[in-house]
Amino acid sequence: MTVEAQSSAVYSPPERLTNPEGREKPWVSSMAQYEELYKESLEKPAEFWTRMATETLTWIKPFSQVTQGSLKAGNMAWFPDGQLNVSYNCVDRWAAQDPSRVAFVYEADEPGQASQVTYGELLDKVCGVANVLHSFGLRKGDTVAIYMPMIPEAAVAMLACARLGLVHTVVFAGFSSSSLAERVIDARARVVITADEGLRGSRPIATKKIVDEALKSCPEVEKVLVYRRTGNESVAFNASRDVWWHEAVAAQRPYCPPVPVSAEDPLFLLYTSGSTGKPKGVVHTSGGYLLGAALTLKYVFDIHDNDVFCCTADIGWITGHSYVVYGPLALGSTSVIFESVPTYPDASRYWQLVQDHKITQFYTAPTAIRALRRHGDEYVKRCDLSSLRVIGSVGEPINPDAWTWYNDVVGGGRCAVVDTYWQTETGSHVISPLPGATPSKPGSATFPFFGIELAILDPTTGAELEGNDISGVLAIKRPWPSMARTIAGDHKRFLDTYLNPYPGYYFAGDGASRDADGYYWIRGRVDDVINVSGHRMSTAEVESALIGHHAVAESAVVGAPDDLTGQAICAFVTLKDGFDANDELKTELVKEVRTRIGPIATPKILILVDELPKTRSGKIIRRILRKVVAGEADQLGDLSTLSDPSILDMLVRVVTAAL
Ligand code: PRX
Repeated sequence: MTVEAQSSAVYSPPERLTNPEGREKPWVSSMAQYEELYKESLEKPAEFWTRMATETLTWIKPFSQVTQGSLKAGNMAWFPDGQLNVSYNCVDRWAAQDPSRVAFVYEADEPGQASQVTYGELLDKVCGVANVLHSFGLRKGDTVAIYMPMIPEAAVAMLACARLGLVHTVVFAGFSSSSLAERVIDARARVVITADEGLRGSRPIATKKIVDEALKSCPEVEKVLVYRRTGNESVAFNASRDVWWHEAVAAQRPYCPPVPVSAEDPLFLLYTSGSTGKPKGVVHTSGGYLLGAALTLKYVFDIHDNDVFCCTADIGWITGHSYVVYGPLALGSTSVIFESVPTYPDASRYWQLVQDHKITQFYTAPTAIRALRRHGDEYVKRCDLSSLRVIGSVGEPINPDAWTWYNDVVGGGRCAVVDTYWQTETGSHVISPLPGATPSKPGSATFPFFGIELAILDPTTGAELEGNDISGVLAIKRPWPSMARTIAGDHKRFLDTYLNPYPGYYFAGDGASRDADGYYWIRGRVDDVINVSGHRMSTAEVESALIGHHAVAESAVVGAPDDLTGQAICAFVTLKDGFDANDELKTELVKEVRTRIGPIATPKILILVDELPKTRSGKIIRRILRKVVAGEADQLGDLSTLSDPSILDMLVRVVTAAL
C-alpha cells in the first residue's frame, strides 16, 4: 500500500519557542535533542526511566527495578517494588514549597465568576474529603464512583481517593442513569460522589436525580457524598444514604496522612467503549500512569513555572484525568477547570478565557475547533491571545484546514500546534510533536514520544511493514509506563483486545501510515468503534440500546462522515411485524438511545429499512452500510457473501433520501 497524497506544508517551530526572549528555552529545542532522548529511551530504558521517574516523582520507597513482564505475556509492570502516594505527589509537595501557588483556576459556568484554589487550600480540601471517605469505612483498594460536573471538587474527589489508595472511577456526567448504574455495578463501587446539580450554559443539569435513578439498581452503594453546587432546595435527599459534602468535611480534621501504595496499585478505572456492547473498565496504575501524564505534559506542552495550562476536556474522559488533573498537578502547575460550554454566552468564551487567565498552553478537540471556526474569526480576534505559546488538539484526526485555522487565527502564527495522538488505554500521549523541536505537517501527529516504539503492521498477516511510505494498522512494540494494565475483572478481554491480535505488539485499533519522511498519520479506527466529536462510541452499544425498544427487530449502526463532529452515528433499523415506519417512531427510537446511554450517543441519522444487508448465514454486513453512507456505493468491493444483492438499490435510495 502506498500513502495517499498529504498536505505538503511543513511548519517549523515558531520563533516564540526557538527564540524565547527572556523566557526559559523549551525542554527540547531541536530535532537532534529529541532524537537523542528518544534513542536513549529505547536503547537504555532502565537509565532513562530511572532518571525520569526520580526527577519527576517523589517516592516513599524507591524502586529497585524499572520494568518487568512483556506484551506477549500481558504481565507488564513498572517500578514494581516502588511505593508512592499520588495525592502527595500532586498536592503536598507544592503546598509545602509555596501554599499560595495556584493549583486550579476555576472558570464557572457564568462568565465573571472565576476563582482560584491554591495548593495550600487544595491540600486541606483533599484531606477533608479523604477523611470523610475513611469515615465511611473505605480502605485501600476499594472503589468509589464519581459523577460530577466540571468543578474543582471533582478533582478534589479524585485526589481524596488517591490519598487513601482508593480506586476511583469517574463517569462522565453526560451519561444516563442506566450507563452510570452499569459502571457502578461493574466497578463494585460502594460509594458515589456527586453534586446536587450541574450548570452548563446556564442550564441546570439534574446530576443528583440521575444518580438517584441509577442507584435504584445498585443495592451495594451505601453512601452518596453530595457537593452543593447550585443549592436548589428541591433536590431530593435520602437521609439514610446521602451525606452533604460540606457538613461531612466540617466534621473532619483538615489533615489526612497519605497512604503508601505500590507503583502498580490501581489509581483508577475508566470505562471506555469497545467493539462489543459492554464498556470496558480500563485500569491505570499509580506510578507508571502518573509519570506518563506528567512527562508528556511537560515535554509536549513545554510546561515551565508560572505557566497556566488549560485543557477543555471533561474530567469524565481520559484527557481530563491526565491533563486537567494528574499531569498539571504532578508538575506543580496551574490548571484551568472550565465548567461551561464554548459557545456560552457566545463563541468567544474560550478566547476570553485565554485572555482573562493569561493561558500559556491551550488544549482542545478538533470538533470544537471546527465548530468555533464556523462562527468566524471575529470572536477570536477580539481577544488578546498573546499569552499563548502552545496549542494542542486531541481525540480525532484534525483535518489540515482546521489545523491551519487553529495555527493562523488562534495561534496567530506565533504558537506551536501539537496534534496529540493517544487513547484511554495509553494513559498519555504516544505520538505528538514537541513544540520547540518538531517541524509539523498539518494533520499528522508526527513522531513517537519517548519510550514509544511504533510499528505499522499488515492488518492481514500481522507482518511489520518496514521503511517509509506505508499504511497498515498501528501497533506499539514494547510496554511503556502509562499503558493500561488490564480491564477490571476481565483480563482475558484485555489480552484479546490489545495484545493477542498481533502477539508481541500492543494493537491500538487505528489504521495509520508512515509517510516518506517518517511522519505518522492516523487514519481512524479499524474496529466497530466510531469517533463522534472525539468521543468513542461502540456501535454495538448503540445497537443494543435500539434493540431494547419493543418495536425494533434488528439494528446496525455505522459512522457517517460529518464535517463538524468527524463522524456521526447513523443507525439502520428494521421493525417487528405490526409496527409502522413513521416519524414519530423514529423520534421515539432516538430518544430511547439518549435515555439508555446519554445525549452523546444520539443517532444523527436514523433510517428505517425493510431489510439489512446480510451474509447467507445471517450476519449483518456493516461494511456495506458504511460505504453507502460515505457515498461510496460504487466501491463496495467483494459482494459474493451478500445473500440478497437486490437490497443494494433500496439502501442507496433510502440513504440518499435521508442524508
Ligand atoms: O482513533 C483514535 C482517536 O481517538 C481514539 C482514542 O479515543 P479515546 O480513548 O476516547 O481517547 C481520546 C483522547 C485521548 C484513538 O484510538 N484519536 C485520539 N487522538 C487522535 C486520534 N485520532 C487521530 N489523531 C489524534 N490526535
